[in-house]
Amino acid sequence: MRQDCVDRVLVLCADITIDVQRENRDLHRPRLDGAAIGRTHRFAPTPKHYLNVYRRGCMTINDEMRIAVFGLGHVGLPTALGLAELGWSVVGVDNDVDKANEIARGKPPFYEQGIEALLERHLDSGRFAVETDVALAMREANVLFVCVGTPQREDGAADLSMVEGVARTIASNLNGYKLIVEKSTTPVQTAQQIKRSILRYSDANNARSNAGGGELDFDVAVNPEFLREGVAVHDFFNPDRIVLGVETERARKILLGIYQPLLDRLGSTADATVVITDINTAEIIKHASNAFLATKISFANMVADLCEATGANIDDVTHGIGMDPRIGPRFLQAGIGYGGYCLPKDLRAFTWIAATHGVDFSLLKEVEHINERRVGQLISKVRQALWVVKGKTLAMWGLSFKPGTDDTREAPSLAVARCLLDEGAHLRLHDPEAMGEASREFRENAPVLTYCATPEEAADGAEAILVLTEWPEYLDVDLGRVRERMRVPLIVDGRNLLDPAAVREQGFEYYSIGRP
Ligand code: UGA
Repeated sequence: MRQDCVDRVLVLCADITIDVQRENRDLHRPRLDGAAIGRTHRFAPTPKHYLNVYRRGCMTINDEMRIAVFGLGHVGLPTALGLAELGWSVVGVDNDVDKANEIARGKPPFYEQGIEALLERHLDSGRFAVETDVALAMREANVLFVCVGTPQREDGAADLSMVEGVARTIASNLNGYKLIVEKSTTPVQTAQQIKRSILRYSDANNARSNAGGGELDFDVAVNPEFLREGVAVHDFFNPDRIVLGVETERARKILLGIYQPLLDRLGSTADATVVITDINTAEIIKHASNAFLATKISFANMVADLCEATGANIDDVTHGIGMDPRIGPRFLQAGIGYGGYCLPKDLRAFTWIAATHGVDFSLLKEVEHINERRVGQLISKVRQALWVVKGKTLAMWGLSFKPGTDDTREAPSLAVARCLLDEGAHLRLHDPEAMGEASREFRENAPVLTYCATPEEAADGAEAILVLTEWPEYLDVDLGRVRERMRVPLIVDGRNLLDPAAVREQGFEYYSIGRP
């Protein structure tokens, strides 16, 4: 071990001794059932705190399992807190110090149902802590969940530089066996590349001496997540399936052990819920899942267009086809198309990786083109309804890419807003959660753009309401009173949220997607 590492460990050990002595005075005995352990101490993200979490974890579960989750975004934070709730001691690692500090103070960096309570609970239970020193976290942990971002490059491929960065940092911090679990959504063969990078960049001498003279000792596994934004906490505890791509028996056993408390909660068995594959297959399962979901949506949207052209009803069509269990009813909701950080990006990355392997996935290119046309089609509907858009005041209900989140990344609603602003409309915006995020997108000010506290306020003086996100809150609005506040009672429903008959009964002119 290098002398600077020895010094650091000695300092940290001294910190632990002092802290544990102090904490043992008031530490309730930790429980395996996920209940809080009775302390309300709030930690700052320091190495001392970090090691203490493992120390309590040793007492709690298993003195071998030390989990660190790298990247505290929409995937990493719910995963880390979910694992803490299952009883594991988890350190969440993020090199964005401001974000890490906020999380350590109990403030999640995004809106997600139930996450704030879970964060509070496990900062208090001591089973979750935050660390910003990535290398330190790597040295201390032996199970490393990689949840860093895989944004899109200009050519549609996934930008894997953050994943590679993690692999290289692991390479210089291998000090004993590590299981590296790829959870970020990555193209097939990324896990293989992680392995290659670790081998290539390992400081072999250092690693050998730290590992007690042994070979570089690590496994790479793939454990894709299928969490949906907005209900990620619910999804973590209610998975349809847990996919584990492994190469060794040791990795398989460790991952099954980590998820065993979840299987126990579900009253399920590994046979029923867990899919064990090789690492390449697990990566394709994830990409293919998102690509298939996007395909279902674009298919439903094309059928909706045909319904609209012929006077048929898309709701009845999707109900009719969805009753066939081979098709299923979900993800057939027609509207202004899919958005968000995952489906659009993953579809492009999947198409790209297929092409690099000589597979022409033009089916998916068409899925994307159909989706891209949805915004233009809605704008045409608005033009048809209003005749001239310039100078009109329009209320927009919904800005996030879907309900239950404040995320506006690739939200079709924002593309609609941008087109209408360019045409000279005045917009009155409302969203239950995403107003802050949306406001970063626009430079315009009132009266061109007005942010409203309620959907009713957004409708004040409007010549149309556009429903762009299917927030259930909008179903509770008293349409009769809304009509009185509008200049023209007209609704263009881009998500088929409202009941056409009920809306028309309230005296509205009403247009939706693929419904008479
Ligand atoms: C998606 C997948 O559903 C998750 O399983 C996956 O884990 C996640 O991506 C990811 O890869 O991290 P998410 O991005 O949260 O989850 O959003 P979805 O619920 O899939 O919705 C995506 C978009 O499709 C939204 O804009 C939604 O409004 C739209 N959509 C969804 C439709 O237009 N019609 C539908 O029938 C369903």
